[in-house]
Amino acid sequence: MAEKVILTGDRPTGRLHVGHYAGSLKRRVELQNSGEYDKIFIMIADAQALTDNADNPAKVRDNIMEVALDYLSVGLDPAKSDMFVQSYVTELTELSFYYMNLVTVSRLQRNPTVKAEIQLRNFETSIPVGFFTYPISQAADITAFAATTVPVGEDQMPMIEQTKEIVHKFNAVYGETLTDPQILLPENKACMRLPGIDGKAKMSKSLGNCIYLSETEEDVRKKVMSMFTDPGHLRIEDPGSLEGNTVFIYLDAFCNDAHFAEYLPEYANLDELKAHYQRGGLGDVKVKKFLNNVLQEELSPIRARRKEYEGRIGDVYEILEQGSKAAKERAAQTLAKVKHAMKIDYFDTQEFLEEQKKKYR
Ligand code: TRP
Repeated sequence: MAEKVILTGDRPTGRLHVGHYAGSLKRRVELQNSGEYDKIFIMIADAQALTDNADNPAKVRDNIMEVALDYLSVGLDPAKSDMFVQSYVTELTELSFYYMNLVTVSRLQRNPTVKAEIQLRNFETSIPVGFFTYPISQAADITAFAATTVPVGEDQMPMIEQTKEIVHKFNAVYGETLTDPQILLPENKACMRLPGIDGKAKMSKSLGNCIYLSETEEDVRKKVMSMFTDPGHLRIEDPGSLEGNTVFIYLDAFCNDAHFAEYLPEYANLDELKAHYQRGGLGDVKVKKFLNNVLQEELSPIRARRKEYEGRIGDVYEILEQGSKAAKERAAQTLAKVKHAMKIDYFDTQEFLEEQKKKYR
């Protein structure tokens, strides 16, 4: 059977939050523990983070360990998954440079995620070239590991499409070399895009609307109690709306029937709770307290594991170093194949010399 390989990762620009967890981290751990994958690589994308943080390298550096701790605390296991730092794998940069020849400027301009990020960062009039081309570097990340499966959030779809185009083009021009990857999206729709606690479309550090995985129990509780709900739901008797109601979106993402049995036995499941809310007579505070219980149950083992790893940071460093070495080895194999396919491996075999000898005979 063909090898099944996972590659995915995150930019180290801040601690990871429950949006990352619902959208991707939780699934990664399930995939890791399914035993169905031959190899799993989880990348801390520092080089990509620098494409829009060139003037703030300290931020990226500071968050390498934070993200590593987040990974370990959610249950990624170094015995099963190689966690590594992108910039250590210099082969990725080299691959990117060759892939750049296979992509047009207009194709990059059409990438919806890049477009949105350009707006968000007010780059309109001065887009750094490195940032503009990061989808190409992401294709290098994925193909370097011959990844078959890329578990990511929905916002990464355009990157996978771009990667597939590069794979097809490369293989058509230079011969069958690169592996065509598949995206793996979250199964649960609410997990796809968890809003911030203020109801804004995305959790983002700059908006201050995130619940971090490393947050204390008390801070999580405070944030849950301050969550955006239905602004029209003023009195308990009023009918409430679920549309854009953050608390219910989080419940969609995190709760199951067992949570009801444990914390809110007067309802059998989320459908019953929702129906009562819509009918009127159910207050926000009660729903928020329930959500808090659900989230605390999910987050408390994560918090405990983080504390444990924080107490042996030298080991975490070593996990990253070992993972990075394993990743580099794998990427080097792909780079060698790529250079061979492109016939730029002049000194790796005798072929080039033989050709030249014939030519100049
Ligand atoms: N773009 C991803 C993010 O912003 C990080 C990333 C970089 C990535 N390279 C990747 C994800 C390759 C999946 C595969 O979070």
